[in-house]
Amino acid sequence: RVVDADGNVLVPGIIDGHIHNREPGLEYKEDWESATRAAAAGGVTTVVGMPNTDPVIDRPDHLELKFERGEASAHVDFQSYAVVTSENIDQIPAIDEAGALGFKIFLGSTVGDVPPPNDGEILEAMERIGETGKRLGFHEENGEIIDHYTEQFQAEGRTKPIDHSHSRPVIAEQEAVERMLTFAEETGAKIHMFHVSSGSAAEAVARGKARGVDVTAETCPHYLWFTEEVMREKGNVARVQPPIRDADEQARLWNALEEGAIDTIATDHAPHTPDEKKVDDPFGNTWDAISGFVGLETEVPAMLSFVDEGRFTLEEWVRRHSTRPAQVWGMYPQKGSLQVGTDADFTIIDPDAEWTLTDRDTLHSKNCVTPFEGESFTGKAVTTVVRGEVVYEDGDVVGKSGYGTRVDVDTE
Ligand code: DOR
Ligand code: ZN
Ligand code: ZN
Repeated sequence: RVVDADGNVLVPGIIDGHIHNREPGLEYKEDWESATRAAAAGGVTTVVGMPNTDPVIDRPDHLELKFERGEASAHVDFQSYAVVTSENIDQIPAIDEAGALGFKIFLGSTVGDVPPPNDGEILEAMERIGETGKRLGFHEENGEIIDHYTEQFQAEGRTKPIDHSHSRPVIAEQEAVERMLTFAEETGAKIHMFHVSSGSAAEAVARGKARGVDVTAETCPHYLWFTEEVMREKGNVARVQPPIRDADEQARLWNALEEGAIDTIATDHAPHTPDEKKVDDPFGNTWDAISGFVGLETEVPAMLSFVDEGRFTLEEWVRRHSTRPAQVWGMYPQKGSLQVGTDADFTIIDPDAEWTLTDRDTLHSKNCVTPFEGESFTGKAVTTVVRGEVVYEDGDVVGKSGYGTRVDVDTE
């Protein structure tokens, strides 16, 4: 580790393997330029965009469009997942050829309403993706369970933010994880669980690893930072899918993380307009509000705050937020390592900086609603370097829009 005279520490470039950059099609929420500006300002050198855009990234030409837009405007390096639906299983080899980092299946409905394939189609998709060498990630919530409780709660007239959370119970997540582990065991596919929110689901991942399934898993800072009480304190601002869980689930998630069940940290950065988030009436009818919030500029501070509290070491943080994501998605050692000389990506952090996010509009996204507004941190990124070029320094994004480029993937 390299430490300068001010006590700042140089670490490999931080990788966020889960952002909703919203371009193409949803640029009123965010675009490549604004998302990667936020990334640079947050100390993040590589981001991976989710496929629930408009059009959804379900064909090679849609992926190419997304890459072209990124090449034109990104500040940091980037990649993208492609989605698998009932309609595009035969296109998996062509999407692979077009350079997707990996694939995602939405098992239950979420923002963007990408329809889940049926179980037979998922098995077939696993076989096909297995042949590409790439990994298949899941929005791992059982949609039938969620739809059932959502309809029931709405019929009962339950409208509080916490009711939205409870309509997506832990069992919906745990069941989806267990089922996909069984499928992966059958097919030999490499799978990944995005945004694991609960100890119950993380423990299921651990059981899968123990029996030899090639499964990796991610969690997000908000599941480690907040408990579901945040729904009573901040209302729909903290509405997210999967929802933030109770203290017991959170404690068990922390245990599973410490024991190695969770490989990677990422944000699920999901910008929406203040109107869509209903910020003027955060405790109003939850069924009118939307799920997701930004995170690119609070992920490094949140994780450094945990390091400061002694929850894990700086090295353990870097492994989960840089090295492991690069390895899991075939970007190592091009990313996630300082071994590539002058071309390296790195982030310089001030681990002692104490600060509070008092005004969300100091963030760089197009829409900045986040439950981390008002939270206090110990630690932040001070300099961000992508392939040897400084893109962020002393509070200013100094890199050029368009400098960021697509990361080549090597899964062979
Ligand atoms: O809360 C969420 N927001 N969960 C998702 O799965 C999607 C995301 C979004 O796209 O806004
Ligand atoms: Zn998801
Ligand atoms: Zn997401």
